[in-house]
Amino acid sequence: VIYRVARSLLFRLPPETAHRLGLAGLDLAHRLGAGYRTPPQPHPPVEVMGLRFPNRIGLAAGMDKDGRHLDSLGGLGVGFIEVGTVTPRPQPGNPPPRLFRLPHNDALINRMGFNNDGVDALVKRLQQRCYTGILGINIGKNKDTPADAALDDYRTALTAVYPHADYIAINISSPNTPGLRDLQQEDALQALLDAVCATRAELMTKHDRRVPLALKLAPDLTPAELQACASVIAASDIDAVIATNTTLARDGLQSDRAATEAGGLSGRPLRDRSTEILRHLRALLPPRIALIGVGGIFSLADAQAKRDAGADLVQLYTGLIYQGPRLIRQLSALR
Ligand SMILES: Cc1cc2nc3c(=O)[nH]c(=O)nc-3n(C[C@H](O)[C@H](O)[C@H](O)COP(=O)(O)O)c2cc1C
Repeated sequence: VIYRVARSLLFRLPPETAHRLGLAGLDLAHRLGAGYRTPPQPHPPVEVMGLRFPNRIGLAAGMDKDGRHLDSLGGLGVGFIEVGTVTPRPQPGNPPPRLFRLPHNDALINRMGFNNDGVDALVKRLQQRCYTGILGINIGKNKDTPADAALDDYRTALTAVYPHADYIAINISSPNTPGLRDLQQEDALQALLDAVCATRAELMTKHDRRVPLALKLAPDLTPAELQACASVIAASDIDAVIATNTTLARDGLQSDRAATEAGGLSGRPLRDRSTEILRHLRALLPPRIALIGVGGIFSLADAQAKRDAGADLVQLYTGLIYQGPRLIRQLSALR
């Protein structure tokens, strides 16, 4: 009920303002002790990527790009939080407006463009957190880094966040950084995975800890492209694949004022497409590679469909904007 009232107010504001205010409200409630408390977790923890997750439900990247709200978001009862995408250097992202609601479609379009404070600021903030749950850190390249230096950005970010992450997500699937998705092309992916896995091997020795690596893919890969990606991933030391990021597709949308905005579409229209990608990946990848299903989860049935397609864990973003924290409570029945 509280969220329904809050939502009707927040949805009158521009989406990015509403996002900031919503998180500020959550932080305030958390500080006053009046916020949500971590609900009792009746189910046994699950082991994925060698980590123990208290439940299978996580917050997807982009919700808390700079790790500013970990303590209050952690209080919602999720099993893990993925912060980022963070880039080596701070960058402002695209000019606003860059986030749009499609209420008739239960969807969002965003072209944020990796607005973030940079990796050093993130690391400093993470050192002050109280949140003790599982933390994923999602890394990407700066917009102005030329394509032929992209691997350096991933190596730099990986090295900086390594001691602070439970797992690290390599994002090559945002549609809002020009050329980023080209890293999913077979040869480029091979070079990227060679580079990040070699850097991880060095960091593992240095820090005496193996941090799992997850690769986040786009839903817009053709079956042939997906197969090529899968064979490169299967031959690498990557621990998990996150499927999927937002889509450039616009088919099947109900009419909505913002439906023609440029950017990545998330939410209900993405759901089945990303579940199909997940199903294909499960068939193409060896069982040692875990799968994290994300895209259009609005109900327990949606999350169960991801599980049935092979997801070990699931993540939420747009569903949480439309439904509020009750969605997390509803999903606590997911096994
Ligand atoms: C406003 C917004 C910002 C996002 N930013 C990122 C990001 O920085 N990095 C990333 O990997 N995914 C990002 N995503 C994608 C989500 O993590 C997720 O993959 C996608 O939205 C599909 O899930 P959903 O339908 O539950 O929202 C963003 C999504 C939204 C809506």
